[in-house]
Amino acid sequence: MSGYIKIDNVRKVFRKDDRDTVAIENISLEIGKNELVSILGPSGCGKTTVLRMIAGLVEPSGGEILVDGNKVTGPGPDRGMVFQDFALFPWRSVWKNVEFGLEVAGMPKAQRDEKVERYLEIVGLTDFADARVHELSGGMKQRVGIARAMVNNPKVVLMDEPFGSLDAQTRNIMQAGLIKILDKTDQTIVFVTHSVDEAVFLSDRIVILTKRPATIKEIINIPWPRPRDRASPEFTALRKRILTELEKENVMN
Ligand SMILES: Nc1ncnc2c1ncn2[C@@H]1O[C@H](COP(=O)(O)OP(=O)(O)OP(=O)(O)O)[C@@H](O)[C@H]1O
Ligand SMILES: [Mg+2]
Repeated sequence: MSGYIKIDNVRKVFRKDDRDTVAIENISLEIGKNELVSILGPSGCGKTTVLRMIAGLVEPSGGEILVDGNKVTGPGPDRGMVFQDFALFPWRSVWKNVEFGLEVAGMPKAQRDEKVERYLEIVGLTDFADARVHELSGGMKQRVGIARAMVNNPKVVLMDEPFGSLDAQTRNIMQAGLIKILDKTDQTIVFVTHSVDEAVFLSDRIVILTKRPATIKEIINIPWPRPRDRASPEFTALRKRILTELEKENVMN
């Protein structure tokens, strides 16, 4: 189904002390159900802002966003977000962080326990269920954030550089895990990353944004089945082409 998420002519201006920063300039994009779309673009161009607007945490200055036909006016349980800065509850244990959304939803304890256990296993944190957030490494915190979002089984998962602080090996494991989840559910994933390799490995489509104010520079379809072979000539060629495009948008130019 096309247009499950509909971003319609969206603009975002941040105002501070009479100074306007145009972050997003008239972006339109439709994302289909069960699609994984990655957003690539230079630092500060507005990728997180796009995700936060879909999440309903930031209001567009112009245009509108629809999810499953409904205009986004605030956060909702149909959309889960994995934040760039983890945003975990420091006073709660790993288990309690992951359990949070299920508690809010009023799910019975036996059911909650089963789900939390399963997702902690998926992200490899079973042994750290009772640990506090400050006892975790950066990569472990990130995995808690992923489990916390995925456990609620939201229709839309918004992921802001979710694997950014993981080492290469764990990152590959998490990418493979995400592909498996995507195959088994009909979740729609909007994925922000700085890694071109990761975007080509995971995405049905890649959206490249320009430097701020962000507009859509190019949308690339990747019809290849997953898992994909990083060593294949077409993978390497596409990665190279995207890197060249991004280099042109380098904020330091
Ligand atoms: N709450 C805010 N108030 C004011 N300006 C903001 C706010 N949030 C973002 N901005 C500005 O909007 C622009 C885009 O920020 P955003 O965080 O979306 O970029 P990004 O593409 O996610 O960058 P990065 O790749 O470094 O995470 C930046 O200029 C930033 O300073
Ligand atoms: Mg960001």
